Amino acid sequence: MSVKAIFFDAYGTLFDVHSVSEKCEQFFPEKGMQISEIWRMKQLEYTWLRSLMDRYEDFWKVTEDSLLFALKALDLQASQEIRSALLNEYLRLKAFPEVPKALEMLSNRKMAILSNGTQEMLNPLVRNANLTEAFNEVISVDELKIYKPYMGVYELGTAKLSINKTDALFVTSNPWDASGAKTFGFQVCWINRNNKPFDELGVQPDLVVKNLEELANTLP
Ligand code: 2OP
Repeated sequence: MSVKAIFFDAYGTLFDVHSVSEKCEQFFPEKGMQISEIWRMKQLEYTWLRSLMDRYEDFWKVTEDSLLFALKALDLQASQEIRSALLNEYLRLKAFPEVPKALEMLSNRKMAILSNGTQEMLNPLVRNANLTEAFNEVISVDELKIYKPYMGVYELGTAKLSINKTDALFVTSNPWDASGAKTFGFQVCWINRNNKPFDELGVQPDLVVKNLEELANTLP
């Protein structure tokens, strides 16, 4: 594997989307994880549906709408204040514990985030986790107004880092994103944190690891 540049997905890969469940739990005891799971599932669905319908709204709006759906689905009443408090947790998601050291170990290459999140959503996460120095670029689909796995989004990544796609590794914990990146022609590493099955979309990742530490120890 020759890897001159690495692209990282953000949500679920570098940052734990389910860190919002703690805040959800404060307002809705025993429901935290359920809210968080429906919230994330719908958030992704809405990105795909909006892309197909050509009705782009940015990831902040999609995240707000999917939170509304999750609360409704579980029959939970939440004031505007509570909804804002929950939504704002998306600006405070925690990086997975192994991330800073692993990025340091991988830092002899160009590295970038390539994410559905807007710059306004991604920048605070990167800053809070002290990762600003780790990345050459933080790239958002918001520039193109369409979501992954649209091929043009992966193409945007190669243009930003001036890199050939076959020289780049795309790292993600999301099987649908790994399938998209592989279809585009990237080398792909799937981070399988929870021993899940991979998607049946006719492509396979080149590398499967449990976390970023294992990736850092695997890459030459
Ligand atoms: C991303 O960061 C949503 O996890 C996806 O683009």
